[in-house]
Amino acid sequence: MNLLLTVSWKNGSVVLIDQTKLPNKLVHVRCMDYREVANAIKKLVVRGAPAIGVTAAFGLALAAQASRAKALPELMTDLDIAFKTLRATRPTAVNLFWALERVMEKAKRAKTVEDAKKAVLDEALKMSEEDVEANRQMGANGAKMFRDGDVVLTHCNAGSLATVAYGTALGVIRAARESGKRLSVIATETRPVMQGSRLTAFELQHDGIDVSLIPDTAVGHMMAKSAIKRVIVGADRVLRTGHVFNKIGTYQVAILASRHRVPFYVAAPLSTFDFESSPEEVMIEERSVDEVVKVGKKRIAPKGVRIFNPAFDMTPPELITGIITEKGVLKPPFEKNLKALLG
Ligand code: MRU
Repeated sequence: MNLLLTVSWKNGSVVLIDQTKLPNKLVHVRCMDYREVANAIKKLVVRGAPAIGVTAAFGLALAAQASRAKALPELMTDLDIAFKTLRATRPTAVNLFWALERVMEKAKRAKTVEDAKKAVLDEALKMSEEDVEANRQMGANGAKMFRDGDVVLTHCNAGSLATVAYGTALGVIRAARESGKRLSVIATETRPVMQGSRLTAFELQHDGIDVSLIPDTAVGHMMAKSAIKRVIVGADRVLRTGHVFNKIGTYQVAILASRHRVPFYVAAPLSTFDFESSPEEVMIEERSVDEVVKVGKKRIAPKGVRIFNPAFDMTPPELITGIITEKGVLKPPFEKNLKALLG
């Protein structure tokens, strides 16, 4: 199968699938400068926690490559400017900060300008490989949670398009199918940015995986009819307590799943874990009101109405059946079992 490759490094530039053009056109954009990368993250050309992290790491590689610094401190100044620009693009997905800090650490340890430039690119390339490996491992771990014939609901897009390739939640679905289980997927539209209809439906169709699309508002109805056997979503940040931050609407789906006794799984690599913050400390991105009041160029709400447009919400641990990671599946109590999982 020809998996979508969301982000890659080619001939000294960063190549991204332009997700703002999906599902109508599958086209790529090439970023030659870290500012273009920052802009692509802000504008959702590339989105999804792991994809943002790797793309930002490649952004630092572009900054290193472009630097004319003759000595290490000058190079570090150039990298620091790029680091600050890239880290200010989006606030919720922790992979962004994790990736940028990991690359900067490598640069700091280098002894010469050339070594530092090489270390930055090597680390970004390593992270992009690790991302696919982690997804495959999560897939192998998570596939066991699914039964032949399951109809699985997913919200937003946690697939190839949200990672380098293969996906987290959709990676588990792929792995379950590869192990011979016949799964079909129900994707929610995921208003207001429509990652479910534009991206998940496109990606699954592209890969020949059975998918149906429903409005976000139909989740309760479908569960009440027993039309959904499992839920699996990705995450932008998982706290050590098992609180999961993911696309707005995830919390509603989790409540409905709990009400209807449908198992609710989260698939997230360890790069999405934030071991320090408490739930109140996590910043939820507020996006433009235009996403809510307009469909294309057409206004669908009266002028002057007050709008809230939070992009993420928090699902508390008591609503989560299991968190699938590359190291194994965490079951409640998450804090205790996470410690055991990480040794
Ligand atoms: O605003 P987005 O499209 O970047 O939000 C993406 C999500 O919420 C995904 O579910 C999450 O990043 C998991 S991706 C494997």
